[in-house]
Amino acid sequence: MTEIIRKKRNGDALSQQEIEVLVSGFVDGSIPDYQVAAWLMAVYFQGLDDEETAFLTDAMMRSGEILDLSSIPGVKVDKHSTGGVGDKTTLIVAPLVASAGLHVAKMSGRGLGHTGGTLDKLQSIPGFRVDLSPEELIASVRDHFLAVGAQNERLVPADKKLYALRDVTSTVEQISLIASSIMSKKLACGADAIVIDLKVGSGAFIHNREDALKLATIMQATAKRMGRRLTAVMSDMDQPLGHYIGNAMEVYEAVQTLQGKGPKDLTDLCLELGSHMLLLGEKVTDPAKGREILSEALQSGAALAKFREFVVAQGGDPGVVDQPSTLLGNPFSREYLAEEDGVIHALDAFQIGLAAMRLGAGRETKESIIDPLAGIRLWKKIGEKVKKGDLLATLYSQSESSFDVAFPILSSAWKIDPAPVQVNPLILQVIQG
Ligand code: URA
Repeated sequence: MTEIIRKKRNGDALSQQEIEVLVSGFVDGSIPDYQVAAWLMAVYFQGLDDEETAFLTDAMMRSGEILDLSSIPGVKVDKHSTGGVGDKTTLIVAPLVASAGLHVAKMSGRGLGHTGGTLDKLQSIPGFRVDLSPEELIASVRDHFLAVGAQNERLVPADKKLYALRDVTSTVEQISLIASSIMSKKLACGADAIVIDLKVGSGAFIHNREDALKLATIMQATAKRMGRRLTAVMSDMDQPLGHYIGNAMEVYEAVQTLQGKGPKDLTDLCLELGSHMLLLGEKVTDPAKGREILSEALQSGAALAKFREFVVAQGGDPGVVDQPSTLLGNPFSREYLAEEDGVIHALDAFQIGLAAMRLGAGRETKESIIDPLAGIRLWKKIGEKVKKGDLLATLYSQSESSFDVAFPILSSAWKIDPAPVQVNPLILQVIQG
């Protein structure tokens, strides 16, 4: 191990065998944390080349169980979001592409901090089960074209250990480490091809386009070396996606979107991601055709019917699809009003996510209990004109005392100014694989 650290410290490339030794030794405990910590810092400064990143991804992927999706017909395309605020796209995109004949076997995670997780959102549906065994997941995908399960502990144990060490050694931001962490998990879940929704902005872990482009490029190169295709869709996360942030509220907005009544930003992003999934899944030969098919599935009710079928298949109450307003319950609420006239210049996604977390919609620590009804409804977004006293947001929570904590955070997210403002496009760039 000292030789591996020294080589990386000096900027030399590591062999596949050296990376394999490091990963397997770290997972089985024969290589101590302090040596891996030193290696991580050397990687932080010297980087990994494309080949080393692919070796690391491969060794991490093989550190635990690998889901075998070979019994499911066709190309298996996974979709991954790097995490944002109000990001309920999986709830829409997965049934949308499934309704167009693409098989989707998805392993999702829970939310932590200011970002939400798909599992928490789905579990706000009464009865919905996410603890599927691999056999159940595969059977459900075969029968219904779609299943979403919880990523289990036996998949990619190397990532869990490495991520924890990166977290405490300030090496999380290194681009090859991020790429190998995300991709090893996707590949262990059986993906043949991947569409990455790379969020860029205040509510994402990548704050500028330059870094996002670097990450997209290295992920694409890694995928290629591993015989997979990867498309990166860079999307804006300076403000939250859609109008609802919070678990049950996001399912509500997802159902509205599947009914063809969703907000434009969310609908557009879902169509973009979905059309690239259809392309990689060889269902269409160009994304414009994919968009056409998916728009039709939203209008005809086919995507909504697929979502309903999926909810029933995983034990959830289909009443939430037939009458989505039942999801919202009857929590306490408080209104946030504009303090001045002007145009909304900023609606900081990070602050909004943090405020939603304080209301109970997110986890401060892994052990925190989620309030499924907590969240924020945004009535206005960047570029809209407002007058003093207009309703900007409604906060919801089952804990009335949480409003006093969330309110000042929420108010710091808004910037209102008399000057006009240029609104960022939602889809910043697509790098097709
Ligand atoms: N998401 C991951 O899964 N891993 C990282 O390293 C960063 C974001």
